[in-house]
Amino acid sequence: MKKRVLVATGGGDCPGLNAVIRAITLRAAREQNWEVIGSINAFDGILNEPNEIVVLDSRRVGGIHIRGGTIIGTTNKGGPFAWPIKNPDGSWGSADRSDEMLRRLQYLGVDAVINIGGDGSQSISQQLFDKGLNIIGVPKTIDNDLSATDFTFGFQTAVQEATSAVDKLVTTAESHNRVLVLEVMGRYAGWIALHAAVAGGAHVCLIPEIPYDIPKVVDKIYQRFNKGRGFAIIVVAEGAKPKDGEMFYEESTETGYKNVRLGGVATKLIKELKDGGMEADMRETVLGHLQRGGTPTAYDRVLATQFGVKAFEMVLEGRYGEMVSYRHPNIVSVPFKEAIAQYNFVDPDSNMVRTARGVGICMGD
Ligand code: F6P
Repeated sequence: MKKRVLVATGGGDCPGLNAVIRAITLRAAREQNWEVIGSINAFDGILNEPNEIVVLDSRRVGGIHIRGGTIIGTTNKGGPFAWPIKNPDGSWGSADRSDEMLRRLQYLGVDAVINIGGDGSQSISQQLFDKGLNIIGVPKTIDNDLSATDFTFGFQTAVQEATSAVDKLVTTAESHNRVLVLEVMGRYAGWIALHAAVAGGAHVCLIPEIPYDIPKVVDKIYQRFNKGRGFAIIVVAEGAKPKDGEMFYEESTETGYKNVRLGGVATKLIKELKDGGMEADMRETVLGHLQRGGTPTAYDRVLATQFGVKAFEMVLEGRYGEMVSYRHPNIVSVPFKEAIAQYNFVDPDSNMVRTARGVGICMGD
């Protein structure tokens, strides 16, 4: 009987997930005694009744590397340790179904699991590994906020999308002498905003790591207007916050969704700029999930393919409890504990921030 590796994709989707799934499957097909199955919607596919498991073979994954999303679905709600359950009074609680999941995996004849996901998914990987599961992680996030890897796939695609938006906003801002604010994703880390601001030639870039000072931003824009450059582009990360202020978010009412919901900082910023004396016309654009959908760039397909091949080879080597990582120029692996220990924040003294400041981008401070 063949050995079985189960693949799951968890958390928010990200361009390149399908390329990882394809690479795992094609690499496994080169071995005589392995087969690959996928769990639908992260680990829900194992826990749902009846279970939702699909066979992944070379035919099934043919051509999927150019498609965004994930053919096996994903979820950023619940999970085996916090499965949503409805209480008799109608309220929602959660149950730990991890032991049951391990039993079900055993019943399905699963020898190893590859969990593709961000920090939340890799904490689940760590907990499952602690319970004895043969599990390997593959990092995923458009935000690029995992510290144990130089880059995650999906990030470059998101930056490309955000940069195209800046390029388009420039021509309309210039025509109307407006200040246009582009809100991009980046919950705790401002990588997408920073890269898109530099690539697109924005004038102001506001990120969570550098709290912004409204008078400084107003001043920067007026300096431009006074020089006869009567428009400005501001790129703001959704998690950006003012000096002495808080991140702008809503508590989610969705069952099992633990994150707070970001979005709306651009509108808030425009109000703050008006209150701070900015008289020019201003408009906001929220790029939202356009950054997560669509075709991955060639760079992300290559990185995702490298991650997939490495993940399966880690299964062959029995390197359980570890996550794939890119440490230029190598694809290596790191223990889960290290992988989830801290976020990859933008360092305000880094070369990237110096580059942005060097070409005159105001970082809000
Ligand atoms: O974690 C990645 C991310 O893209 C964040 O930047 C963003 O806040 C979040 O996902 C949005 O998630 P959802 O799809 O649940 O709205």
